[in-house]
Amino acid sequence: MARLRHFLDLSDIETATLRHVLALAVARKGKARPEPLLAGKTLAMIFEEPSTRTRVSFEVAITQLGGHAVVLDSAGSQLSRGETVADTARTLSRYVDAIMLRTVDHERTREMAQNAGVPVINGLSHRSHPCQVMADLMTFEEHRGAIAGKIVTWTGDGNNMANSWIHAAARLGFTLRIACPPELSPRAEDLNWAAGLGADIVVTADPQAAAAGADLIATDTWVSMGDDQTERRHNLLAPYRVDSHLMARAKPTALFMHCLPAHRGEEVTAEVMDGPQSVVWDEAENRLHAQKGILLWCLGADSPGHGS
Ligand code: CP
Repeated sequence: MARLRHFLDLSDIETATLRHVLALAVARKGKARPEPLLAGKTLAMIFEEPSTRTRVSFEVAITQLGGHAVVLDSAGSQLSRGETVADTARTLSRYVDAIMLRTVDHERTREMAQNAGVPVINGLSHRSHPCQVMADLMTFEEHRGAIAGKIVTWTGDGNNMANSWIHAAARLGFTLRIACPPELSPRAEDLNWAAGLGADIVVTADPQAAAAGADLIATDTWVSMGDDQTERRHNLLAPYRVDSHLMARAKPTALFMHCLPAHRGEEVTAEVMDGPQSVVWDEAENRLHAQKGILLWCLGADSPGHGS
């Protein structure tokens, strides 16, 4: 039996496949809609945490590809009453063609994949956010060409987004500088995995040094879903705010990215967020196209005969 094409982490997926999925996404952006490559297919989406972009972009993506989405909010399914992830995976696999899960606990995503008979997509966990970084990679290359050899600076929390950027740097060959307080450093396991592949990644407590000569500066909210100690995190992360001084350290052509939702005046100033270097709305739009690439690949509708 063919291996299921789960989309759980960029570290699980070979470079050539990631490039293929990105190419599928880019191609979708230029296509007329609807494009019924997934006619008759159903995606179940389980949200144990809130979402705007992930929820809407996946539902619109599969609809525009001729399929259908079923959305389960945490309170509206038996998961909230203790049914196991494994039993939920087994049940949904009898109805649908793919499952997308958003949950804080990454192990629940892995457990879903281990027990599902259909592909499982990580729609964000506390550990990683691969679908978002696919959209970000697409956005960077749309504006500035190939990301290989470029310098990407992540400043702020070493969170799930930082982890997926680490995976992407190792897979796609760009330099990644992470500026964060030592207390909020990314997972050593991900850094070690990337180092094992020869990735060029630096972790520093100095955002000014990290931003010097960068092609892209990216950040995220200071308090992610599942985080506590809000005041402590604000105090630790205040020096990592993206403002015009930090952007001025980067190349004049540098882009600013934020996966959203943003908190102007906290992790980014309004001047940068709404300024000329910001591509945050392109990032948000590209979630739609990236989800299409991911869905087509996961569901095996990605061959030239399928219209890619
Ligand atoms: N960036 C992102 O995942 O947005 P949502 O939380 O709105 O899905």
